Amino acid sequence: MFEDANPVVLGLSGGLAILSLYLFSQQMRRNRSLPPGPRGLPIVGNMLDMPKEYEWQHWAKHKDIYGPISTVNVLSTRVIIINDLQTAIDLLENRSSIYSNRPTFPFAGEFIGWNKQMILSQYDERFRLMRKYFKAYVGTKSALIPHKNMQEMETKYFLARVLQNPTSVLEQIRRSAGSIFLKLSHGYTIETSGSDTLVELVENASKEFHTATLPGEWLIDSIPWMRYLPEWWPGQHFKKVGTVMREHNMEQALRPVEFVKRQMEKGVEYPSFTSTLLRRGLTATEAEIIPWGANAMYGGGTDTTTAALTTFILVMVLYPEVQKRAQEELDTVVGQGRLPGLDDRPRLPYMEALLNEVHRFHPIGPMGIPHCVTQDDYYNGMLIPKDSIVLVNLWLIAHNPEVYPDPHKFNPERFYNTDKPQLDPQTFVYGFGRRACPGRELANANMFLLMSMMLSVFNISKAKDENGVEITPKIEFGSGTVSHPKPFPFSITPRSKDAEAFVSSIFEDHPPPPSNAKELLDIYSWIWSLSATSFKGLVFTSPILRTFGLILRNHTNLRSIAALVPGKASIAATSN
Ligand code: HEM
Ligand SMILES: *[C@@H]1O[C@H](CO)[C@@H](O)[C@H](O)[C@H]1NC(C)=O
Ligand SMILES: *[C@@H]1O[C@H](CO)[C@@H](O)[C@H](O)[C@H]1NC(C)=O
Ligand SMILES: *[C@@H]1O[C@H](CO)[C@@H](O)[C@H](O)[C@H]1NC(C)=O
Ligand SMILES: *[C@@H]1O[C@H](CO)[C@@H](O)[C@H](O)[C@H]1NC(C)=O
Repeated sequence: MFEDANPVVLGLSGGLAILSLYLFSQQMRRNRSLPPGPRGLPIVGNMLDMPKEYEWQHWAKHKDIYGPISTVNVLSTRVIIINDLQTAIDLLENRSSIYSNRPTFPFAGEFIGWNKQMILSQYDERFRLMRKYFKAYVGTKSALIPHKNMQEMETKYFLARVLQNPTSVLEQIRRSAGSIFLKLSHGYTIETSGSDTLVELVENASKEFHTATLPGEWLIDSIPWMRYLPEWWPGQHFKKVGTVMREHNMEQALRPVEFVKRQMEKGVEYPSFTSTLLRRGLTATEAEIIPWGANAMYGGGTDTTTAALTTFILVMVLYPEVQKRAQEELDTVVGQGRLPGLDDRPRLPYMEALLNEVHRFHPIGPMGIPHCVTQDDYYNGMLIPKDSIVLVNLWLIAHNPEVYPDPHKFNPERFYNTDKPQLDPQTFVYGFGRRACPGRELANANMFLLMSMMLSVFNISKAKDENGVEITPKIEFGSGTVSHPKPFPFSITPRSKDAEAFVSSIFEDHPPPPSNAKELLDIYSWIWSLSATSFKGLVFTSPILRTFGLILRNHTNLRSIAALVPGKASIAATSN
């Protein structure tokens, strides 16, 4: 029967068979050589295996089953999970030229514009420039020297506020972190009590970011070209919501820069990242990064520092002997007539060990921030395909019993006064390679300062219930990108009458400057007002309109433009 067959057809179908066999085997080889992982369902892959909470504990199970590196697939996205330090360093650090991208978010990133933020930026020229300026201002020990006095003053105000209202410690930690970052970024002084306009703008926008990145919430995330469909097309709800969110994102970035410009015009600005760069006369492309570089200080710093310092309070409550040891060091080295400062840091090794143990005990970014690979890569014979998302389980690295014996015990002695200190957690808690946290030195300095100032004048202890019985808090943390301790009871008391007198004189000796919140209220950034409702956000998606906006800006008074825009009513409403 073979003789009857048309040789052409036979040849063709044979060729096709061989071709498809080849493709199939290629596909198999690709799949087979991926890092191991759980089998998924067709199309949706491992979607149902994704963790709902405590991601780090979920992914930690992969280490026992699959080893240090594993894969899951979600729809068409590959996620590579790294559960050990060496693998993380080999890839994210040693091959950082291709492991330094971030995943894209069609809705939150591209549509709303959160990809302008440093933390979500694609790894490109603009990003590198932004990061360079950021590092130059706060990224190194020497860059931080000029800011030392300000950090110390803000932390003293923190002590004074805690004394006035000991139950508000956690709120004051956040306020103190926020006020340091906004001073650095915009020379802006926040309200000393109650809510602050700029803080609210930023916090409101980041809540929206959270909503905008809820997985599966936004159809456009799965079908990116949806954004090009006309308004009347069904399922375009995201455009309305997204446009408002985009305005808020722009506003929180641009309004404070406008504030700095006005302060500079009046010659009353407090020197900051923004004023320094504005003064430098950058090109328009360069200047575009200023709001976002500035933004990264409050945005990247506040929640993280607050989570880490809350962890510090928690362990002080639970480990009084550690607290006592730290206070002894402070008393010996600094004495009692003054507060410790950043210059004392090299002479306070136990405090330094305590800081590192706080980082290790609970890395507050337990899964770091996802990286993304820009080209196919091979590691130990396994394929890491282009565009895979790479996650590193920092929490598991910090709790590896081979590296940190008895890992759930809080013990600064791991790093103190020993010939064989355990691995320095600074090598991983701040992430890896060209995406590693650029606020690291600043965060360490702030944390060191607050921890030592606090311990030198206050005792942190267990709260008592109504029967006078001490309450031992549970060690519990929340899920999420930044993981905070869950609320817990504690008590704060001055260590002595002298300490109390000293702290209560801080406000008198150094009256805090008035807040800039009022000045900020007067300002609505021109871009923000242009984008409000009338243009439906087109200003930011169309290069033509954007250029048009730039020209307008050069030639027209900002307020008069705003007056032409129907959205002004809503601006006025927000400003009052
Ligand atoms: C306890 C304090 C902090 C911890 C544990 C922490 C940790 C991290 C981690 C793990 C990353 C991701 C690194 C990676 O992708 O490999 C990161 C990124 C970042 N952090 Fe921090 N951080 C802290 C404080 C700060 C502070 C104080 C600032 C700013 C003043 C800051 C600004 C940033 C920025 C802008 C990024 C994004 C960098 C990029 O995408 O290139 N962080 N941080
Ligand atoms: C990467 O690691 C290898 C071996 O661990 C080392 O020889 C090489 O120098 C490293 N490359 C870079 C760019 O650090
Ligand atoms: C922040 O959001 C709250 C609640 O939506 C709103 O009342 C408040 O005015 C917002 N703050 C600013 C400064 O826009
Ligand atoms: C502070 O705590 C220490 C123990 O760590 C204790 O000896 C001391 O009496 C406490 N001081 C006050 C004023 O409560
Ligand atoms: C705006 O004015 C500056 C100089 O004042 C000029 O360099 C820039 O090109 C102008 N921009 C536009 C879009 O006209």
